[in-house]
Amino acid sequence: MMINYDELIQKYKRLGITDLPTREMIKTPEQIEGIREAGRINTLVLDEVAKHIRAGITTDEINDIVHKKTLELGGIPAPLNYEGFPKSVCTSVNDAVCHGIPDKNQVLRNGDIINVDCTTIYNGYYGDASRMFLIGSCSDVAKKLVEVTKESLNLCVKEIKPFSRLRDIGYIIEKYCKQHGFSVVHEIGGHGVGVGFHEDPFVFHFGKKGTGMVLFPGMTFTIEPMVNEGTRHVFLDSSNNWTIYTDDGGLSAQWEYTLVMTEEGLEILSH
Ligand code: MF3
Ligand code: CO
Ligand code: CO
Repeated sequence: MMINYDELIQKYKRLGITDLPTREMIKTPEQIEGIREAGRINTLVLDEVAKHIRAGITTDEINDIVHKKTLELGGIPAPLNYEGFPKSVCTSVNDAVCHGIPDKNQVLRNGDIINVDCTTIYNGYYGDASRMFLIGSCSDVAKKLVEVTKESLNLCVKEIKPFSRLRDIGYIIEKYCKQHGFSVVHEIGGHGVGVGFHEDPFVFHFGKKGTGMVLFPGMTFTIEPMVNEGTRHVFLDSSNNWTIYTDDGGLSAQWEYTLVMTEEGLEILSH
């Protein structure tokens, strides 16, 4: 890392800006290399899912693919037993926003949309990413929702630079999604990641531009917008205390990358 952390902190404090990363939010080059490797393995696991996902497969079979591929690559699936989560991956279908639990009785059908969210621990480091998959032929609105959600994330990757503010991320995402007629879930966000699964800061997917923590080179975090067809409001499934659904039963899409802030901008470490 070329930046002098203490000097930068002093500079911002003189300007009266106090929402600054802690020292441990700035990863060392060694840590970044470890997170890069974990991210690379995590991407390979999602690639394996992409090869096999189709109508007729159950979400539990997706869990088996993720579990086996992760172990084969020398990793550990981070979701398994994380705060009591019972499976190795989150599979969220249609109106499920996130944290869907793989189930042998849940069969993917033509026209479904599904988010598969994988997190891999490799050599002690974490990579976290998720993708949407369109099963067979989907409605025009489903296809548009999936594309707009992905584009909102890619816009952030393009526009967020070192020393951008944290809430610029959410500003970009919500503005873009609203422009296309969709709503953004507020209750769940991205997070610092790499040495642990969920680190500070919380990464909002909405907000006022020019506010929030200053993003320094060396920070590693996820952006993972959850975008709804209808209302942004959601509820927690009380039968499992994990899965979040849209209040109105409308579709929800999500994409997630693990990112590192370099001196040039955001670099994708897992997708
Ligand atoms: N991978 C999710 C995230 O993006 C977290 C899942 S927690 C679990 O943060 F326990 F459900 F796996
Ligand atoms: Co994730
Ligand atoms: Co995440």
